[in-house]
Amino acid sequence: MTIAPLFLLYDYSFLPPGVADAGAALALAETAGVVCSDEFLLHPDPYPTRADWCLARVAATEARLAACDPAMPTLLVNHFPLIRKPTEVLRHQEFALWCGTAASADWPVRYRASAVVYGHLHIPRTIHADGVRHQEVPLGYPREWQHWGKPDPLLREVFPAGGRP
Ligand SMILES: [Fe+2]
Repeated sequence: MTIAPLFLLYDYSFLPPGVADAGAALALAETAGVVCSDEFLLHPDPYPTRADWCLARVAATEARLAACDPAMPTLLVNHFPLIRKPTEVLRHQEFALWCGTAASADWPVRYRASAVVYGHLHIPRTIHADGVRHQEVPLGYPREWQHWGKPDPLLREVFPAGGRP
């Protein structure tokens, strides 16, 4: 199996339903008071914007995945989910803007993923989409440990499948 850390970012392409573009979606998020702190703390230099940075990461990673042995399954590892579906349970849908990129939506199938592992949403669980297992395995923040305890087990089993999420 090819284990591939992807290092993708977000590019504001997970737009709320009925919203035309990223500018309108950002304005909506601001009005709702749901703006990710990455917007202030994550500097895109040397790229002009975080979306440009994401675009560059998508291109670089896609080229490397395309060069992998097509007979070999992959394990795709990313900070953000690769598909939008995991964000559907977010209480504030405006926050999906900061949760990934639509550019990776078909990668799990296209690049033969046996599983996708991510953590950004801090909602530990396993879902399936297009026959691919997507496993969220966040470590969480100390303030979350005070509420729910640390992940148990701390190390999550990805293979063989069937362990606790
Ligand atoms: Fe994150």
